[in-house]
Amino acid sequence: MDKKIIAGNWKMNGNMDAVALMADALKNIDLSHVTIVLCLPMPFVGASAILSVETGVQDCSAHESGAYTGEVSARMISEIGAKYVIIGHSERRQYHNETNLVIAEKAKQALKSGLIPIICVGETMEEKQAGETNTVIEKQIRECVPGKGAIIAYEPRWAIGAGMTPSNEEIKREHGFIAEILESMGLGGTPILYGASVKGGNAAEIMSIPNVDGVLVGGASLKAEDFLPIIQAV
Ligand code: PGA
Repeated sequence: MDKKIIAGNWKMNGNMDAVALMADALKNIDLSHVTIVLCLPMPFVGASAILSVETGVQDCSAHESGAYTGEVSARMISEIGAKYVIIGHSERRQYHNETNLVIAEKAKQALKSGLIPIICVGETMEEKQAGETNTVIEKQIRECVPGKGAIIAYEPRWAIGAGMTPSNEEIKREHGFIAEILESMGLGGTPILYGASVKGGNAAEIMSIPNVDGVLVGGASLKAEDFLPIIQAV
């Protein structure tokens, strides 16, 4: 992996003014060593024309088309110029009861439509304390990743938005474990991002850990003053 990937997940935050401000802040960034992806709320993706970086969204339908009121298909997302889609984020698993099965269907639709799915996996605090981290992650990867072309984001659910991260040793161990599983599925080389409480102060250290091909950033991707130091960390 030569280019690190820095993906921002705006969740349900921001407005068109914030997109314009970010576009301005990112316009002179040297993209030769880094791929920057802004995963915006769906209605803002039309603004991708003003952004010099890649854009993505945070979900897509598990269906191709049809009578699914309120859903947006992967093909529609691709048509408006987005290239990436976050799939199976822990907030989707938690608040929308998304199962591994549904997540796999969404990832298949994304790949079929030429989008790059960023498939999220990670354990809860209860699972971590019960020593089930690897079991949970392995099941999520085997059941959610349909094939080549995806990106994996390891996001320990207990660390998201919490201001704390696993130790570097833990990140190293889990990323190594994920790389082994992907290898055993014939998917070696699939990029693996770390996500949860990444900020300017810890990004360089996290990205220097083996098998960490980039980061997925939530809160710190909303404002240029927080996001730029993470990009500079590459
Ligand atoms: P955080 O969120 O960086 O605010 O912890 C990460 C995510 O939910 O993708």
